[in-house]
Amino acid sequence: MGSLDGRVAIVTGGAQGIGRATVMALVKEGAKVAITNIRCAKLDQTIQEIKDMGGDALKFCVDVTDVEAVQEMVDQTIANWGKIDILVNNAGITKDNLVMRMKTADWAAVLKTNLDGTFYCTRAVLPSMVRQRWGRIVNIASVVAQAGNVGQANYIASKAGIIGLTKAVAAEVARRNITVNAIAPGFIATPMTEVLAPEIKEKMLSVIPMGRMGTDLEVAHGVLFLVSPETSYITGHVLNINGGMYMA
Ligand code: NAI
Repeated sequence: MGSLDGRVAIVTGGAQGIGRATVMALVKEGAKVAITNIRCAKLDQTIQEIKDMGGDALKFCVDVTDVEAVQEMVDQTIANWGKIDILVNNAGITKDNLVMRMKTADWAAVLKTNLDGTFYCTRAVLPSMVRQRWGRIVNIASVVAQAGNVGQANYIASKAGIIGLTKAVAAEVARRNITVNAIAPGFIATPMTEVLAPEIKEKMLSVIPMGRMGTDLEVAHGVLFLVSPETSYITGHVLNINGGMYMA
């Protein structure tokens, strides 16, 4: 018996990295998971692994910035499984540059995917959660939204926006027994950080008290904590998973 037996979850950007680790952690606890990703070729292997484990999963090739596709994904998940209990807004991108050199299109693309996408998915799942008076939403923010960083104004604005959105929605739906929290991961080893130059990685590691990068599974366990039945009185919170990189 898992702690999430019978629960239905949606994880955005679930093809790799933190999203994929979260999907597998939820499945291991007994949840059925609808996985969405803009690039969906990679999802097939994950779906197969879940089926091999005896789990249940749905695959959606959805761009979270596409309002209609997001609604369709939510409708189809409900048509298949009757409800949505958990949403993990994980899909995210970076397009780093100094503000003075940042292209308008790169500013807009990062805000659109990270912040607008989180809003669209949240708005689409809430009616189902409100109806059943139970829900868990976890938004993946970032340590840089708290601490700042050079060359990431678009990303930081989007992630700080996610923290604000988390608190606003948490207050709106608290009486419906729906919790809304954010996780602020630090420097996590995933395809997103794999591409960073060695000198940037060195610089990041030098400011992490634990002296190492985090793993996708360490973030996934934070998600499990926030969606578990036992954490029902935690809402509007930002959970740091950062090896001590930022303490607040
Ligand atoms: P990743 O790049 O490995 O995975 C992100 C996934 O989101 C990819 O599968 C990608 O295809 C998908 N995606 C991108 N745009 C999408 C869209 N419009 N619609 C649907 N799916 C889309 O990144 P990683 O590292 O696993 O990051 C996951 C989340 O954690 C992101 O929100 C990221 O900003 C955040 N984060 C990551 C940190 C790190 O050090 N890796 C640190 C702090 C936050």
